[in-house]
Amino acid sequence: MSPVLNLDGVSVRRGRKLLLNDVSFHVNEDERWVILGPNGAGKTTLLQIAAARMFPSSGSVQILDETLGQVDVFDLRPLIGLCSNAVANALPARETALNAVVTAAYGVTGRWREEYERFDERRAFNLLNAWGVGTVFDRPFGTLSEGERKRVQIARALMTDPELLLLDEPGAGLDLAGREALVARTAELVSDETAPATVLVTHHLEEIPPGFTHVLLLRDGEAVAAGPMEQTLTSQNLSATFDVPLELAERGGRYSAFMAQ
Ligand SMILES: Nc1ncnc2c1ncn2[C@@H]1O[C@H](COP(=O)(O)OP(=O)(O)OP(=O)(O)O)[C@@H](O)[C@H]1O
Ligand SMILES: [Mg+2]
Repeated sequence: MSPVLNLDGVSVRRGRKLLLNDVSFHVNEDERWVILGPNGAGKTTLLQIAAARMFPSSGSVQILDETLGQVDVFDLRPLIGLCSNAVANALPARETALNAVVTAAYGVTGRWREEYERFDERRAFNLLNAWGVGTVFDRPFGTLSEGERKRVQIARALMTDPELLLLDEPGAGLDLAGREALVARTAELVSDETAPATVLVTHHLEEIPPGFTHVLLLRDGEAVAAGPMEQTLTSQNLSATFDVPLELAERGGRYSAFMAQ
């Protein structure tokens, strides 16, 4: 299996703070990774690097066989689908949901060319439909609910048919039914062997879709553990990551954790 991401000894320094400290993270094309860790652990920072949107202070980064620093990131970015707050904030509030998705095909956030291929619009509409937000296609992005906005963002991330899909807290702000729909749809997506290698950041074990294969646990910019889900997602590792005694529960491929009694 080809590697999609090879991060070796990656550190990110901002002033005196180390956002990431010597983190190595390897993702192969058939793997689906979850990144877990408390607020401020460095999850978004790591995803920004994997998305070729940030350069590390030290360490080496290869994304889809290209070395960060030796490749034009504007060639690389269309191959990476990113769903994050930073992308959402960059989308103009007046842009329709459909345009918010279509413009991904051109690597921009505002609609800048009047003549789009009908094919692209059809694809964007189908993606909105697949993620349950087809009915809001003509509504301004800024008027959508949190949950609708998340789904539009995922549709946008998938628009370019990426080889790497990065989802930073896609379940944040969703109600229970919305979360379950997202988990089910994501599980369906990753079950397809042609689906892109996927990395999902979350705070909540309930948001891990069945079918995710690996987990990286981050704390204070350092990897606590990384590896196959079954061996790595343990009460012990979770407790070390979140610095509270936690007990892991698993049921039918879904996870949760509570404070140990
Ligand atoms: N430019 C910066 N200068 C100093 N500190 C920064 C800078 N950017 C981010 N940080 C800090 O780096 C740490 C890691 O941030 P990051 O956004 O990667 O965390 P996270 O794991 O995604 O957290 P959350 O779960 O809250 O989203 C945080 O403590 C943040 O305040
Ligand atoms: Mg974050």
